[in-house]
Amino acid sequence: MQIRDAGEHDLAAICAIYNDAVANTTAIWNERVVDVENRAAWLTERTRMAYPVLVAVTDDGAVAGYASFGDWRAFDGYRHTVEHSVYVEKNQRGGGIGRLLMLALIERAKGCGKHVMVAGIETGNTGSIRLHEKLGFEITGQMREVGTKFGRWLDLTFMQLVLNDHAPDQP
Ligand SMILES: CC(C)(COP(=O)(O)OP(=O)(O)OC[C@H]1O[C@@H](n2cnc3c(N)ncnc32)[C@H](O)[C@@H]1OP(=O)(O)O)[C@@H](O)C(=O)NCCC(=O)NCCS
Repeated sequence: MQIRDAGEHDLAAICAIYNDAVANTTAIWNERVVDVENRAAWLTERTRMAYPVLVAVTDDGAVAGYASFGDWRAFDGYRHTVEHSVYVEKNQRGGGIGRLLMLALIERAKGCGKHVMVAGIETGNTGSIRLHEKLGFEITGQMREVGTKFGRWLDLTFMQLVLNDHAPDQP
């Protein structure tokens, strides 16, 4: 398994993984599937921000998952905090790929000078919560019924990882 930066040739596979999560999971609170052009615009924006989009690629070249982060909140004071997402193709889950993607993503966040990573996880998504706990993330808050999908309310669990002990910069 190789973890590398995504390119345009990975977008169809990323789009398929994303759309499966939209259609079948509460990992993402969207109900509309997207096309490859949508993911291309997303990759372009992440690249413009100098933020990574990483893919996990099997020995035969198939994209088995991806992970990325973006700004957590759009105010200057949050500039050292990012919120990430990680998705593994449904037939490849439970084999360590999510962990590999996250370990690489954490290193990239440190390399970008970030201080905190935030995960917003549906409270019933025990697989993702366990993955994050094993990586050192801690639960920092839970919000009841802030989302909806599949005709029911969704609770949100926030988890965070402090990446370093850097002092804040002086603007
Ligand atoms: C959550 C997800 C990214 C985890 O990736 P993965 O490759 O399946 O996870 P890994 O095999 O790397 O597991 C890492 C650790 O997480 C835990 N874990 C993963 N899936 C789990 C599950 N379904 N139940 C319990 N623990 C689980 C395990 O403890 C594992 O540690 P271990 O190997 O020491 O037992 C993946 O299942 C996925 O894509 N799910 C759908 C999308 C999603 O929920 N994304 C996260 C949105 S916040």
